[in-house]
Amino acid sequence: MSYPFKEDFLWGGATAANQFEGGFNEGGKGLNLADVLPGGKARLKLLASPGFDFEIDEANYSYPNHEGIDFYHRYKEDIALFAEMGFKVFRMSIAWSRIFPNGDEIEPSEEGLAFYDRVFDELAKYNIEPLVTIAHYETPLHLIKAYGGWKNRQLIDFFDRYVETIFMRYKDKVTYWLTFNEINGATHMPLFGLGFSPSSEEARMQESFQGLHHQFVASARAVQKGHEIIPGSQIGCMLIYAPVYSYDSNPDNVMHTRREADLFNFFCGDVQVRGEYPYFIDRYFEENDIKIEVEEGDLETIKNGTVDFISFSYYMSRTDKKEKTQEEIGQGNLIGGVKNPFLKASDWGWEIDPVGLRISLNELYGRYRKPLMVVENGLGAYDEVEADGSINDDYRIDYLREHIKQMGEAVKDGVDLIGYTSWGCIDLVSASTGEYSKRYGFVYVDKHDDGSGTLERKKKKSFDWYKKVIESNGGQL
Ligand code: BG6
Repeated sequence: MSYPFKEDFLWGGATAANQFEGGFNEGGKGLNLADVLPGGKARLKLLASPGFDFEIDEANYSYPNHEGIDFYHRYKEDIALFAEMGFKVFRMSIAWSRIFPNGDEIEPSEEGLAFYDRVFDELAKYNIEPLVTIAHYETPLHLIKAYGGWKNRQLIDFFDRYVETIFMRYKDKVTYWLTFNEINGATHMPLFGLGFSPSSEEARMQESFQGLHHQFVASARAVQKGHEIIPGSQIGCMLIYAPVYSYDSNPDNVMHTRREADLFNFFCGDVQVRGEYPYFIDRYFEENDIKIEVEEGDLETIKNGTVDFISFSYYMSRTDKKEKTQEEIGQGNLIGGVKNPFLKASDWGWEIDPVGLRISLNELYGRYRKPLMVVENGLGAYDEVEADGSINDDYRIDYLREHIKQMGEAVKDGVDLIGYTSWGCIDLVSASTGEYSKRYGFVYVDKHDDGSGTLERKKKKSFDWYKKVIESNGGQL
């Protein structure tokens, strides 16, 4: 069966600077959040909990993001591999602290800017369109330590300067931009997106929503600035999306599910796409004693800075129930929920649900009627290199095939879908666990959790499969 993807559909892959560039202290780069996150499961515990000190402790932990997979030095080889697969688009982020090492300087680092010029020029050689995330979990460390991260309103001005600098510099090279990666993940994992560890568990929601408000203003200003500086630019928001299913038909559970979906999936989208805080948030703020400081002009800025398209990551759905026992929760899904008896999970406990992607696309398009792009999706899995050097990742091919089929169904449903970039098109460091062994790529990188490995690149079986998918515009799955 073939699917009606657009002729100029943007097929490609996705990465983030902190997870693959390496070169953490080269080229004048300052430290950022990812540089102080330990590798291994110790990281997961930090994400939501208070009290992280943002210090490097090499005696007790490893720091895999420091070396990443060394894209910083190997970008030509890697981009050639993406070109061989036929990528039309490559999603990457700019590391803010390569451009402004501390985040609050007046003048940017020329060396940092020149690095991304080289990357964009290399992509242009192969007609690969860059899709650039402006902030992907990599707040400069100085802004975290000296200012308290996005809780502090001053970050809006520092972000403005960063954004204006990169728009001016890359205006002839980059058309597609995303402001904040998975912006709605903030209340679950404030550390990642907002760059702070909550002062206490009780303060987590108050501080997170305040930080989010600052990001809404910063994002809206970026959209306006981008349109001024780069005519024809397309600037999107980026959500972590998981449709929320009610565990059963008990109306109390259905209502609870609906509110969970509103808060998690739609709150940020409503602000960034519709340009206003949604109707249901006042009651939630009131009942949870959350008071957001909003300055004069903020709401107007938000109104005038709505995004051109919506991008999102899709890994899993979430099943919800009003009353849950301790046993039912914490099954591994990063964003919570109870176990869905109809779904299997990945080795990391993330429930695999291709139909959930079709549901997500329909929910988002139905609500917002804006073009959509799936900018992350994929299977984190252990890969084995066989004695003959081959890597037979059929499980990854199956996962991707089923998800792409459901995307095709959504297009048939009438959804305006403009692109798909699968996550970690080349193996990289996992964000939530800081592991190399959680692999997503079409390209294998010889690098391991204990730090060993040559960093050599090898094509997996999925490499040729994805190449055919792109060649046939999704016709041959
Ligand atoms: C998304 C992030 O949450 O999921 C990526 O935007 C991340 O940065 C991806 O890598 C997969 O998660 P993980 O924890 O398996 O790397």
